[in-house]
Amino acid sequence: MSWLPDFSRREVAQAELMDDPHCDLDALQRTYQQFGAVNALVAGWPLVYRRFIRPYLRRERANTLLDIGCGGGDVARGLIRLAALDGYTLRVLGIDADPRAIAYAQAQPPYSGLHFRCAMSGELVQEGQRFDFVVSNHLLHHLTAPELQSLLDDCAALAARTVHADIERSALAWVGFGVLMTPLFRDSFIVPDGLLSICRSYRLNELRRAVPPDWEVRRPFPFRLLLTHTRREKLC
Ligand SMILES: C[S@@+](CC[C@H](N)C(=O)[O-])C[C@H]1O[C@@H](n2cnc3c(N)ncnc32)[C@H](O)[C@@H]1O
Repeated sequence: MSWLPDFSRREVAQAELMDDPHCDLDALQRTYQQFGAVNALVAGWPLVYRRFIRPYLRRERANTLLDIGCGGGDVARGLIRLAALDGYTLRVLGIDADPRAIAYAQAQPPYSGLHFRCAMSGELVQEGQRFDFVVSNHLLHHLTAPELQSLLDDCAALAARTVHADIERSALAWVGFGVLMTPLFRDSFIVPDGLLSICRSYRLNELRRAVPPDWEVRRPFPFRLLLTHTRREKLC
């Protein structure tokens, strides 16, 4: 069908509206504001938390987590809330390459243990920072192939456990997202950028081929991919 994009390969040429430094700031702020609702509908972070984070949390001390490409910070806030409900302390640093995202995140009501900073993951590696967990949501599809490789190297240096969550590209995801989200999110970049994100995202086997062998790719439920890594600690 001519109105459908070509899903046989990733769209890598077209950039998202939110990544344009000159985009409409009001629409961008509404986009950050609406990420929370979109993520609640599509991203499944409570499941990711239960399966990949909660089993490794420690009660005797504060746990630390880095959220890369944090946007408005909704995933970071959600993870702190989930951990607190289970009786754990989780301290989160959210970083984003875009100062507009960090300004928005810092303008939201403060949360104990939550901080934001405009930075790239490589800067944190240079500073010798360490976390228990690194996560990202909807970041991978923004990156070029070399950026993906250096992100993964940084994550392996920064934390023992990493979970990157993203969309899986498909025509059904694209049509479903357009039909469901267009009436709900009219005044932001959520719909145009969401549709383009689906075209920019990986399929399961593509992501497997794109990452080093010690990274695992799973499809936890339809239209979603999880890229995880556990650092093997040296025994002596
Ligand atoms: C689609 S938004 C997702 C925001 C947030 N994770 C969420 O799910 O609500 C992607 C974010 O990644 C940021 N980003 C893109 N490339 C990045 C990079 N190399 N390092 C850090 N952040 C990046 C963008 O500025 C943007 O805020």
